[in-house]
Amino acid sequence: RLFPDGEHYYRMDEDFTHQDVVLLSHLHQPNEKAVGLLFLAGHLRDMGAKSVGLVAPYLAYMRQDIRFKEGECITSRYFASLISGAFDYLVTIDPHLHRYHRLDEIYRIPNCTLHATDIIGEYIKHKIPNALIIGPDAESAQWAGGVAEAAQCEFLVFEKTRKGDRDVSVAMPDPSCYADAQPVLVDDIISTGRTLVETAEGLVEAGLRPAICIGVHPVLAEGAEATLNNPAIASWLSCNTIPHASNAIDISDLLAPAIKAMMTEIML
Ligand code: R5P
Repeated sequence: RLFPDGEHYYRMDEDFTHQDVVLLSHLHQPNEKAVGLLFLAGHLRDMGAKSVGLVAPYLAYMRQDIRFKEGECITSRYFASLISGAFDYLVTIDPHLHRYHRLDEIYRIPNCTLHATDIIGEYIKHKIPNALIIGPDAESAQWAGGVAEAAQCEFLVFEKTRKGDRDVSVAMPDPSCYADAQPVLVDDIISTGRTLVETAEGLVEAGLRPAICIGVHPVLAEGAEATLNNPAIASWLSCNTIPHASNAIDISDLLAPAIKAMMTEIML
């Protein structure tokens, strides 16, 4: 609970001596959660836990991976440093790896990056006939290609320019030869929704059908759902890395084997 002044209070009745403990937190809106997680990890250790791992299906603070403007704080590094100091290992799904290629570049603990691509691909294969997978920007090539392979269909990757938090433009090649296809936009994060809307509107202008959009992580900044309610978007859905009504694809089966592998790794 919180003290009246808003500070955290924790008390645990269980005995954690010699236990391998896994904390599961989707880290959506991390500022609220991170402090509590760090306290809990330290407390569990003090209570005798043998290991304390973090399973964060959505890993926050990965997008500020460079100083875009002079004076900007590269928050991804400091967040990684805090988590690395508190936990024995980290398991996550499709973290935003753009300028970093591996979590090891900033996380100092054993870590496991899982991918939702095969599960999304299987979903598309069974539910969306004649799909054409589209990635809205260069970094989406990594999962658009994997999703297309699992769905056994073609894919295109476009080029995005972000001019502000809520201002993006997407340049696309001529997709008119795909007029009969059902465009399926696949992105890792849906935050403001602008990336998906810009891409979907471009596709409709080019003569394609309204797109079905799939996001791995429905971060959904304020106003995102209204933004996504756009005629260029036929429907949109997400994986359950962050709980939301749009969760249509269950990724939970990925987690248990990864946790087991991490626990084995830290025992060695
Ligand atoms: C950024 O490069 C990511 O892959 C997503 O495209 C981006 O985070 C989506 O953000 P938004 O929904 O605000 O356009």
